[in-house]
Amino acid sequence: MKLPIIGKETEEHSKARLANSYANNLIPPEKKNYLTDLKKSTGPFLAITDHNDETKYLMDAASQIATLGLGFSPSVFFGAAHYLSSWTNDSNSKEFHSIRKALTETLKRKTNWPKLDLTICNSGAEANEIALGYCYKKRVNENANKVLAFEGSFHGRMMITLSSTWNKVKREPFEWPGHETIYCTFPELETDLIHQSAPKDWRSFWASSCALELEIPKEWDKDSQIEKEINSLLEVREKIKTKEIFAILIEPMQCEGGDRYSSGRFNEALILMAKSFGIPVIFDEVQTGFHLGKEFFWHKEFNLKDDQDKELYPDYVVCAKKAQVGLVLSHNEETKKEELQVSSVIRGYLHAVALDQSQELIHNLEKTARVLLNDLCKKFQGKITRPRVNGMAFAFELPSAEITTEFINRRFDHGLLYYPAGAKTLRFRLNTSFTKGDIEFLFERLDQMAGEILNNEAPKPIKEIETRDRNLASIYEWQELLLLTKLKVLAGEKLDNEKFQEKIYSLFEKSTGHKIIRIDKENFPKWKDKIHQMQLDIYEPTRQTEIEKFEYCATSEKGQAVGIVQGDKLLAMSFSSPLSLNPFERGVRNDPDFNNPNALYMVDSTVGKELQGKGVGRFVKYALSAFALNDGIELINGRNRDRMAASMLSINLSLGAHEIMYMREDYPDFEKYRNVLYYTSATKFKTDQLSLSDAINSPLSNLDLTAENLSEQLPYLVNKVCLSNFVSPRFLDHLDSIKKYLPESLQHLYTTSGQSECVDKLAKSIWYNQEEKTNHMITFKGHYFGSGSFLSRSLSHSEDKFFDVTHLDHPNASNEQNVLQDLERVLKEKKTMAIWLEPIGSQTMERIERETLTKIIGLASKYGTKVIFNESAASFYRYDKENFLCSNIEGITPDAAMCFLGGQSGLCYMKEENFLAKPLMLISTWDGDEFALSNFHQALEIVHSDFEKFTEIRLEFTNKLLEALSNFEITEMELENGCGHFKGNISLSLARYFKKVGDRYLVIPSFSAMREFLGKE
Ligand SMILES: Cc1ncc(COP(=O)(O)O)c(C=O)c1O
Repeated sequence: MKLPIIGKETEEHSKARLANSYANNLIPPEKKNYLTDLKKSTGPFLAITDHNDETKYLMDAASQIATLGLGFSPSVFFGAAHYLSSWTNDSNSKEFHSIRKALTETLKRKTNWPKLDLTICNSGAEANEIALGYCYKKRVNENANKVLAFEGSFHGRMMITLSSTWNKVKREPFEWPGHETIYCTFPELETDLIHQSAPKDWRSFWASSCALELEIPKEWDKDSQIEKEINSLLEVREKIKTKEIFAILIEPMQCEGGDRYSSGRFNEALILMAKSFGIPVIFDEVQTGFHLGKEFFWHKEFNLKDDQDKELYPDYVVCAKKAQVGLVLSHNEETKKEELQVSSVIRGYLHAVALDQSQELIHNLEKTARVLLNDLCKKFQGKITRPRVNGMAFAFELPSAEITTEFINRRFDHGLLYYPAGAKTLRFRLNTSFTKGDIEFLFERLDQMAGEILNNEAPKPIKEIETRDRNLASIYEWQELLLLTKLKVLAGEKLDNEKFQEKIYSLFEKSTGHKIIRIDKENFPKWKDKIHQMQLDIYEPTRQTEIEKFEYCATSEKGQAVGIVQGDKLLAMSFSSPLSLNPFERGVRNDPDFNNPNALYMVDSTVGKELQGKGVGRFVKYALSAFALNDGIELINGRNRDRMAASMLSINLSLGAHEIMYMREDYPDFEKYRNVLYYTSATKFKTDQLSLSDAINSPLSNLDLTAENLSEQLPYLVNKVCLSNFVSPRFLDHLDSIKKYLPESLQHLYTTSGQSECVDKLAKSIWYNQEEKTNHMITFKGHYFGSGSFLSRSLSHSEDKFFDVTHLDHPNASNEQNVLQDLERVLKEKKTMAIWLEPIGSQTMERIERETLTKIIGLASKYGTKVIFNESAASFYRYDKENFLCSNIEGITPDAAMCFLGGQSGLCYMKEENFLAKPLMLISTWDGDEFALSNFHQALEIVHSDFEKFTEIRLEFTNKLLEALSNFEITEMELENGCGHFKGNISLSLARYFKKVGDRYLVIPSFSAMREFLGKE
């Protein structure tokens, strides 16, 4: 298929729309001038909206900076849509716990760690700051307060990760005195050859390098590379000896710094030395993890061993990007407080499995890229140099920073997106959707560009790209059919079975050009021999299934069987029967649903020779699932052999399958891969426990999930892109619409991936604009701002301080005067950057009275201190019944505020004087999440579409809750505007609705949760 490429007019079209959002400094003018159309984005190609409703494309050779391992709209990611918790962001659901376990198990296998604990958060910077926080808590030297990082590093843009980021342009404007990171030289390899032989006794030498005296053995043969590495290690040793260091943070390959490779030998020595001093090493695999390289984790290629030749592990591994969320991998269980987006975690899991299964393909991508890159270097000898290739990453060097900028400036003229790294490197991130032809196109364009820039040759213009048709429209049609039917079943609507089946037959024919039939007890005898023959034709004897098993599928009441037929030929088939009829299949008896008559086992899916490689297997399985849904089946479970059944596994993942058992050495044969993934996939949406305490994380519930909304949100659920660079017109519209609910003076925004990112961005923005620099802050005990960064933790937890924060008592009716006196005393004593507070505390549901807020604001302005509200709990009219936000109330508008929107999305809004409008100063990779932002926006619309009804329901809810509580001894209670808290002994069934913090129940239901409690829908 041919895809038209972006042109100047595409840019102008987007620019005009963006200009509206840049007007009056609503957001910093930093987005690329190409507004996305995610529904049409496919494989390596990002779809861009153009005038006259046209769509143009660009090739994303950065894979949205290593976030997209499978390309745009990969079928596997539709799997996330099959979990109701994805839509409601319910991280307490059973299905989410099951997925989380599957993800943990998958990562445990890939790290080969004996034990693995996972902390999930919102971004790469957060994950690093959480891992660093764990190290800080366990520091061996009481006074240690510095991170050791390497020149050329990039670890994110929160306060400490940014101080550990080498690039001065990014770091220096926000560097806080006393919190600077200590840097050592990164012993960069000239090439991508990470396997370097080590001198004799290398490991035992570094394993005892904490010795008082250390002398490098004279007999070590030292080339310039090893000398560099030894010098760097000695530098690190000197720094460790100062006892200031509490963690070493390193990228096994520096990405943003310029795709700078390091050797396994160096990393091995670094860990051994750090261990000898008791200092933890964190591998930042935010960009390299999840199979950028040849192995799932980059550091696994190092084959790290200790001085006893045992496998050597880093203390922490940190991932984000392709993990779709931030992940911290620890060896021991950590005390944590998480904030996460369920749909992203599920995509992260799906990504992990699908990428792991694609290892051979990734090796082939590397081979293709290496040949083409070497050719390019040869053709432009001396100008395009230092090719580095590993897995899906490749990079090369150009003669100067100016020439590198030229390559960046002209990239869109050639329909390409890629980024520079370091001063003179261009780096590329492929993904598994790139075909050989796509990679050839990329290199052909690079060749044209090089000719133009380096040799002054006129380039061949390009108008369209020829690429593989990835069947996207059909996949959407099937997925929407399945998901919308699931939704109907969830809503208790009766299915029109006949009509639904007709739809399945016709969609099958439309998407494959073939006819599908159901095979049952009536027609089984007709097809029996054909089924048997297909087995003989396709499988070797050990993998053939007995015909009786097929017969059970076709003849049992619940079994599901389909076939593609042409005349009397059988071309493909898929068979399943209840689990209980398959007790001899390994794993089936351990399946918790073994006795569930509506749980099926996938007995066989086979595509005959005639149709192999034509992509019909997917639709056969989709049709089988649809028929199962039609017949009230609940689960379809089965076994897929590691790697050898990769394409079937990927189809199952796209239907919402996840692993519940992993069986090692299950196939006793001589193939390389013998393990089996035993999966479960639900054909129905499953509801879980209603929560009346989770409005902040889950502004919507399944009651809000409509067919229209599901279809609209689907493309944003299957594609996570970098909002820091690429947004859709819908994203801008939603910001415009949210803006209307903010006080006029605060309509200057940054979007974020969560609460902690809000804190760090606000602090940076205010710091930047301060005339007299100070970073002392004041907050109140129990007020919460997230736990994903040193700064947010310093505010949220008085016992976990890292930065200079004064925690005063929470002001209430009995202590207000004292607290305000304390506040004034501190403000007088110490120049203070800001007072941070929650008008309603999200962890306590206690409020600060309006008069007190007025006084706090008055004092702050007297001493030139900013006031910042966290309105996550106060929003949605919870603080004041007439005002969406507390900051809307006249007289108590702060200087800046933040609101967590749920999922992976937060919003900072501030006065213009505190806003940093300069582009790209406050970005992160994702800058939030469009799916989550849209959910928040929908919740906002629902409340405002009938505000009277909202107020009525809130009152009814409060009354019903009060009535329920009146049966019990309640010792303390505060309920206002449908939210608050209470204490007392209540029945277990009532208690299940609430989150309990200490002895206090929190009441903070979303509008839909109130409706559900009232049994309104
Ligand atoms: C190695 C590394 N660490 C950390 C980060 C920060 O991740 P995020 O932007 O998700 O905070 C990045 C982002 O590019 C990265 O490449």
